[in-house]
Amino acid sequence: SRKVLLDVDTGVDDALGIILAIHSKELDVVAITTVNGNVSLETATLNTCKIVEMTGASSIPIIPGANQPLERSSYFEHRIHGADGIGGALADVHPTKKPENVYAPDYMIELAKSSSQPLSFIMTGPLTNLAEAIKKCPELPSYIDEVVFMGGVVADPGNVTPVAEYNMYVDPEAARVVFEAGFKKLTQVGLDVTRKALLTEDHLQQLDDTKYGAYIRQSTSDYMTRYIERNGVKACAMHDPLAVAVAINPDLVQTTLLSVDIETSSRLCDGQTVCDFQNRLQKTPNIHVSLEVDAEAFLKLFVHTISVPQEG
Ligand code: BDR
Ligand code: CA
Repeated sequence: SRKVLLDVDTGVDDALGIILAIHSKELDVVAITTVNGNVSLETATLNTCKIVEMTGASSIPIIPGANQPLERSSYFEHRIHGADGIGGALADVHPTKKPENVYAPDYMIELAKSSSQPLSFIMTGPLTNLAEAIKKCPELPSYIDEVVFMGGVVADPGNVTPVAEYNMYVDPEAARVVFEAGFKKLTQVGLDVTRKALLTEDHLQQLDDTKYGAYIRQSTSDYMTRYIERNGVKACAMHDPLAVAVAINPDLVQTTLLSVDIETSSRLCDGQTVCDFQNRLQKTPNIHVSLEVDAEAFLKLFVHTISVPQEG
């Protein structure tokens, strides 16, 4: 199995991505780093400890990172993920699992440099930690096989502003550092595909009598209700789990290698990922952009992988 580091700002969908990654035979989660995003760094770290403890994989180190974007203030998403970030689930859980006393960007550098096997990063929050790591160690990309990130949108509307996706909007300066760092393979899983990857009541029913059934029902409940307001369907968009799934099976999406940049100083467009489909700027393509997804195959993989029996 492939060694991966997950970087998360544990909200509702990050949590589902973590569970998927831990149960996937194709991935070996060697560490989980946390970042300020949907919720504060502290809450994201606590949620991550709760989720990892729930899976039973308590030996995976959890390492806190940046508590704010590189140059901007935090922009939380309590409206979507709830006050606690995971929709009120696991509220009474006090995990014995504690975070490590190391700074995530430093940890990323050490891990990448010392890894004897190919290592991939899966990023499902704002890209602050990875950007800080690159700033400290510009040769970092040469040690990492692939980076898959959930973020951006190139052909559809945004989900924070008319043009910007959340992870990009929160820290566009960090995203630019990552985009320009020269990774061997940088794969974007943006709203173009994640909006089509919807968890519905049907999937919840398939999961009901499994280990995570009750948790997922509770955690996604408010999210699903709110999703109806803007999208007309009752569903949970599986943004972050899809990024994890692409690391498991790249064939779930169709990608095209294109040149992508991000807007950082605009009255209306900060955080917009601008994709040069016709190569008008004559730049070297830097990102494998996901443009199509086999949503059914993805949801099948998700439900199947996390359908572990209930304990006791
Ligand atoms: C992304 O923003 C966050 O709210 C989600 O966890 C996901 O990573 C979707 O735009
Ligand atoms: Ca996220």
